Amino acid sequence: MKVLVTGGAGYIGSHVVLYLVEAGHEVVILDDMSLGCLENIHDQAEFIEGSTLDEAMLDNVLSKNIDAVVHLAAFKAAGESMIHPEKYSKNNLNGTTNLLNAMMKHNVMTFVFSSSAAVYGYPEYLPVDEDHPLKPINYYGYTKLAVENMLKWYGQLKGLKFAALRYFNAAGYDVKRRVFGLEKSPQNLLPIVMEVATGQRKTMNVFGNDYKTKDGTGVRDYIHVNDLASAHVKALEYLQDNDSFTVNLATGEGYSVLDVIHEAEAVTEKKINYTIVDRRPGDPAELIATSKQANVILNWAPQFSDLNTILKSMWNVYNPEENHD
Ligand code: UD1
Repeated sequence: MKVLVTGGAGYIGSHVVLYLVEAGHEVVILDDMSLGCLENIHDQAEFIEGSTLDEAMLDNVLSKNIDAVVHLAAFKAAGESMIHPEKYSKNNLNGTTNLLNAMMKHNVMTFVFSSSAAVYGYPEYLPVDEDHPLKPINYYGYTKLAVENMLKWYGQLKGLKFAALRYFNAAGYDVKRRVFGLEKSPQNLLPIVMEVATGQRKTMNVFGNDYKTKDGTGVRDYIHVNDLASAHVKALEYLQDNDSFTVNLATGEGYSVLDVIHEAEAVTEKKINYTIVDRRPGDPAELIATSKQANVILNWAPQFSDLNTILKSMWNVYNPEENHD
């Protein structure tokens, strides 16, 4: 298939492109490079620098015999989305609308969408499954849910076939070390821990140690980007002969902030200095999910998502001059 990957120079997108190329697909990357990395662009993919806000360019790209679209281009910082919702409306909502409309014009009817755990909001029960109520608590999560709803309508009205993949906490780097571009100003726990290990940051904050969890710190379900990438390829191939679907991509296992820090100290052999500070607004104590649906529908299961593999694969990229395995 000839697949357009929006956001294909980004952190998750670059891994998805790797797996698509490996599976024998022809890939066109569209990325506005606001968060993407030049060094992440796969040498076997065609690269177009541009934004989903550019309708004329989308019209042109979609006219090139594209069979399917994997859409990852979006902003993803939940905290920022509460301060600058306009930015998220524009990129995540207008951009996706433009993309879908260009697809309809050129009769491209297969769509894999990068959705998020943020569509659920505070978990009402654990592990979260796909039937859990959808009550986002930040504007970023709202944009992901709004697109999911739009996809259902386009499915009903226009015959679009889609997969909505709800990622939990994406982490790690390619286990075969083929992706090197580090995320710009990372906001998430694992890259911050890595930056403390390299000395780029002297210390870090742990947001609360009085949650009702085993050690009082927040528990999350970390999923390796290689596992996310393989799910995209399976989703795309599944949609060729089957109906639209929505699934969680997670492991069902939770690790606390202190688990992450301690395992990172073991992997990097560096001291991770931290300070316990107040809870961060909007953080649930624990968020873990079941991926039974992805397992049944796609025959997918995580292979690289244990904490040690995740952290080792990150340390290889954050500190490449040392010889790790
Ligand atoms: C965050 C977003 C979520 C988004 C996801 C993907 C929020 C509230 N949630 O998830 O909507 O889908 O990223 O990018 O922004 N922590 C620290 N110190 C830090 C950073 C994090 O203690 O410096 C803790 C957090 O309190 C949390 C855990 O580490 O318990 C994971 O945090 P993070 O990596 O930011 O991910 P989420 O908040 O789960």
